[in-house]
Amino acid sequence: MIKLLTIIGARPQIIKAAALSRAVKSDFKDRVKEKILHTGQHYDAAMSQVFFDELGIPQPDYNLGIGSGRHGEQTAKMISGIEEVILSEPFDGVVIYGDTNSTLAGAVAAVKQHIPVFHIEAGLRSFNMAMPEEINRIACDQISSILFAPTRTAMDNLRNEGFLDIETRFKNGKKRQVFNSGDIMYDNSIYFAKFSGRTKILERHSLQPNGYILATVHRDNNTDEPSRLESIFKALLHISNENNIAILLPIHPRTAKLMPGNLSAGLYEKIAHSKLKLVEPVSFLEMIELEKHAKLVMTDSGGVQKESFFFEKPCLILRPETEWVEIVTHGAGILADADFDKIVEGYKTLSEIDVTFPRLFGNGKAAHFILERIMAYSAE
Ligand code: UD1
Ligand code: UDP
Repeated sequence: MIKLLTIIGARPQIIKAAALSRAVKSDFKDRVKEKILHTGQHYDAAMSQVFFDELGIPQPDYNLGIGSGRHGEQTAKMISGIEEVILSEPFDGVVIYGDTNSTLAGAVAAVKQHIPVFHIEAGLRSFNMAMPEEINRIACDQISSILFAPTRTAMDNLRNEGFLDIETRFKNGKKRQVFNSGDIMYDNSIYFAKFSGRTKILERHSLQPNGYILATVHRDNNTDEPSRLESIFKALLHISNENNIAILLPIHPRTAKLMPGNLSAGLYEKIAHSKLKLVEPVSFLEMIELEKHAKLVMTDSGGVQKESFFFEKPCLILRPETEWVEIVTHGAGILADADFDKIVEGYKTLSEIDVTFPRLFGNGKAAHFILERIMAYSAE
């Protein structure tokens, strides 16, 4: 029996962790004991507890309750709290997801105590070091014992950075390993899609299938730069008005807090009287239901870009670049940045063209693959 500590903190990590916990419960319970540590990076009920209640994720064994803060301050508190947990009981490995400050803190705390780090969603790159996530990803990949890349592009990135050629050994004498595991988010989307119809979210907001756009905005460069935020919301409002189409935008708390200061009062007023509806963050099953039935999706979220692809919806990406380049190269997504003209033009293009959605993100069994590899590594 091996014992793993899974680190979560931000909304998408809580959701992703559901897939691994489900696989542990169904097929590995005699071989793997999982404990969960929530850093408390996200703490609003709609950003955290709702997912535990809805997705059947075990309640965290540890909740550090760290909350929001400046990068260094928040990450330092997390490292310290995670280290205490790692020192209080033995673990065979620490599982980290993605690229948030919680991910970085988990990796640093564990590697310094010579506990192997298993990085799920390794190898993603935007090649834009202005993103806090890019810094976190690169650092985490360098100090992890097993890198689980979700896509071929992520594998290529790791290859280009020498991860497949350079032999790196850790204190336990074991070499770093790199695998293309497929995307664990795909496991979840397939699994939970069966239940999303229960939510009645479309009825609640009077939305017709294929008759609305789903949008999300939360990246720091979009929310914190008034000109970008203004341009995105102006474009959404324009598209909604010109096409007489509803846009539902479940609003991230970061965006909700910054909109009043960073959007012009006139625009705010116009939004209030439009078909661009800002609502509280929705649950994951509600989100899947919204993604399944949207006409198309507009987002700067990593996870929502992919789910849009899984549910075969074209996606307008409100960023200058993406780590999920396959979506763009296959024509299912357009990079519109925060540029009014590109967003308006991109909507038109995606409304008119026929898009195909090949299987690019694995076979929906990434969690099982990952657990098998961790077992094999631990048995070495
Ligand atoms: C974080 C991740 C980002 C990820 C996103 C997922 C980092 C650096 N960023 O961004 O990669 O895409 O989560 O959603 O780790 N807030 C609340 N309630 C909450 C959580 C946050 O009000 O429950 C507000 C606070 O004002 C906080 C702000 O949102 O300062 C930003 O939160 P933070 O966790 O620092 O970053 P995110 O923008 O959520
Ligand atoms: N999500 C959700 N409710 C919402 C918005 C998003 O459940 O109101 C889910 C979404 O389906 C995806 C994940 O949260 O699984 C994406 O998280 P987010 O956009 O916050 O972060 P990112 O993926 O960009 O890191």
